[in-house]
Amino acid sequence: MSKVHQIKFVKLNKTIDIIEGESILTSSNNQGLKLPYSCMQGMCTTCMAKIIKGEIKYIHPPDPNSLTKEDIDNNMALLCIATPLTSLIIEELED
Ligand code: FES
Repeated sequence: MSKVHQIKFVKLNKTIDIIEGESILTSSNNQGLKLPYSCMQGMCTTCMAKIIKGEIKYIHPPDPNSLTKEDIDNNMALLCIATPLTSLIIEELED
């Protein structure tokens, strides 16, 4: 059985369920959110957001040039290639 995790987006003030193994970005947008994206491959950082609480893992590794050390230290993640391992609280970036 697939595990389902609750994902809260603080700025949108929405909480949705995402199945472990699915892309956070794809699943969110399939559920009516309008999160920004472009490449869907972990390269462009359009989908970057801050993980306030919880753990993610990458479905495939991000492009080594996409996230800076500062981004990683700040818990930034690329939602297009990330899946939840626990319930999450995510802060979207200002656009
Ligand atoms: S959409 Fe390009 S890195 Fe996620």
